[in-house]
Amino acid sequence: MSKPNETIIQQHRELVDQINEHNRRYHSEDRPSVTDAEYDLLFDRLLELEKNNPELKTANSPTQRVGSVPSKRFESVTHNVPMLSLQKVNNADDFEAFDKRVKDGLETEDDIEYVIEPKLDGLAVELVYENGSLVLASTRGDGTTGENITANIKTIHSVLLSLSEETATKYPNLEVRGEVYMQLSDFDSLNKRLVSEGIAPLANPRNGAAGSLRQLDSKITASRPLLFSAYGISRIDLPDLDTQSAVLELLKTNGFLVNEYTDVVKGVDAVKRKFARFKAIRSDLDYEIDGMVIKVNSFEQQRILGQIARAPRWAVAWKFAAELAETILEDVEFSVGRTGVVTPVAKLKPVKVAGVMVSNASLHNEDELRRLDLHIGDRVVIRRAGDVIPEVVEVVEIGEERGKLIELPSECPSCESEIIKPDGEAAYRCFNLSCPAQLEGRIYYFAAKSGFDIEGLGQKLTAQLIEQKLVNDPSDLFFLDEEKLLQLDLVAETKARNLLAQIERSRSASLPRILTALGITGVGETVARLLAENFSSMGNIRTANAEQFVAVNGIGPIIASNIEAYFLAETNSAMLDKMKAGGVKFLEYITSQTTGSLSGKTFVITGTLSKPRNHFKQLIESAGGKVSSAVSKSTDYLLAGTEAGSKLKKAQKLSISVIDEDSLSKLL
Ligand code: IVH
Repeated sequence: MSKPNETIIQQHRELVDQINEHNRRYHSEDRPSVTDAEYDLLFDRLLELEKNNPELKTANSPTQRVGSVPSKRFESVTHNVPMLSLQKVNNADDFEAFDKRVKDGLETEDDIEYVIEPKLDGLAVELVYENGSLVLASTRGDGTTGENITANIKTIHSVLLSLSEETATKYPNLEVRGEVYMQLSDFDSLNKRLVSEGIAPLANPRNGAAGSLRQLDSKITASRPLLFSAYGISRIDLPDLDTQSAVLELLKTNGFLVNEYTDVVKGVDAVKRKFARFKAIRSDLDYEIDGMVIKVNSFEQQRILGQIARAPRWAVAWKFAAELAETILEDVEFSVGRTGVVTPVAKLKPVKVAGVMVSNASLHNEDELRRLDLHIGDRVVIRRAGDVIPEVVEVVEIGEERGKLIELPSECPSCESEIIKPDGEAAYRCFNLSCPAQLEGRIYYFAAKSGFDIEGLGQKLTAQLIEQKLVNDPSDLFFLDEEKLLQLDLVAETKARNLLAQIERSRSASLPRILTALGITGVGETVARLLAENFSSMGNIRTANAEQFVAVNGIGPIIASNIEAYFLAETNSAMLDKMKAGGVKFLEYITSQTTGSLSGKTFVITGTLSKPRNHFKQLIESAGGKVSSAVSKSTDYLLAGTEAGSKLKKAQKLSISVIDEDSLSKLL
């Protein structure tokens, strides 16, 4: 093989630098800037480059490490058996090649028995049990040495502190491995709580799990909704255990959480079918999975196959393809939100990403614009993850005649007042309270589902109401009449009547909704409900002070003073009086949690219903019920619409009552 030329050496150096930087952000800061799939792409490129140019494979290359350097804050723990990583395959052909290698290694033509498990997207952890007691817990770290996180791990309820006597006697030294992760619904509630406490939200569930587990104060870990799912034990020379499926069974009978979708299958086709299944159910799960892990079931066969440098030859991770696409950046607009934050929005040549046409993507803030060095006409990579707003990941090709560099304007695009970047914030803001774009955002938010829930008041109509000066602050909505509405070209008689009926209905909005609608910084649905529960009327809230707000469990000092400042401001006070004059009833809040007809009942909602899910969620919650996103043994009812899928099947399997909208009304 010829010596690598300068370009290849340069390419290699750049890849190594990039990967090292991503490793550092991922492992030491819990703040990755790329998805796993993108990271894998870089890593694969490096592997390929080193395969073709073995001279480049130095001891310092990231390919020669199992994970990354452990952070210095915790005591180091050396694993008795290294915690390996997994080889990856990206498609059926690659998996067939893996299966062939396994068969060749075992010198057999027979179908191989595999255990399949979802690849949970969390953080690998090892638990060491001595004579049945948990004595040590550690992170994977670089695979050889991890961090001692024993105090923190003990705060997680699904981590067993002791094993059954039978297991302890039979296996006095047992090392259990698994993934610590956060459910999506818990992640959402946690972020809401953090925001309401004035703390920056977590980037994603994986980082949420990692960050929560690596807190120096275990009280913080205890307050985080973490789960531990066990997927293996580190030693395979244990008596009576000769398969991976037996290990999972042992873990399950001892009370560990073992993922419900683990299964044993035989042969390539069965694995392929399982992968298709996982892809289909992925979006229904209340936790993130980034693929499927396939392990040779027999320990004897595992032993024969052995391992290569970083990973065993008997297991593989089949990863889902990243939801990425390439397109051209046609323009950038700057949108001004209700709080005055100016956000650059990419206008793209429409492109399909994971089945959805995308023509707008967020560019977040100025730092992001700088990082991307974006010009009109550039070819860019777009990422779409779940329901999150799509974003621009990187420029892949600069435009032929490179258009202008995208920079933040110095003036608000809506009201032309100067925009300022407050200390410690990433975003620029317009501070003009009567800025039309902000007003539009505030009114839109005021009328949104979480607030006054005025159906039919969309963004365009809101903009027209402001333009025609029919609405100068949100309370003006309660003074609209048919005559005024008919002045607008977007509104004909039926539309006007419907809208007025909606406004009439919204005059009886509950206290938490009114509080949410006001858009006080840090007061989302959760804090609004806390306020309503603790103060029961708007009158009480308007006259309370920060000290009283902070006394509520769940409200921190920053939010408390925000609330106080909001109600002290004369303009806000005047607006609330005007709302009252406009007929808003400001109903007193009677805590329904313990008295509601659905008190203590847990619901899951699935399928297509006659109204958005949020509507039913609110109905259930206002009657004291709880809505969770995944079906489990503790679910009482599944509210199922048409085209219900895996949740319905699961509910039927667990004999959970499945109800439709009519039955829900009866229950209510
Ligand atoms: S087995 C030798 N099973 O994937 C076996 N790993 O790239 C190595 N992971 O660090 C691990 N779900 O964090 C295994 N069911 C599963 C898994 C799983 C997620 C993660 C784990 C590990 C990484 C390996």
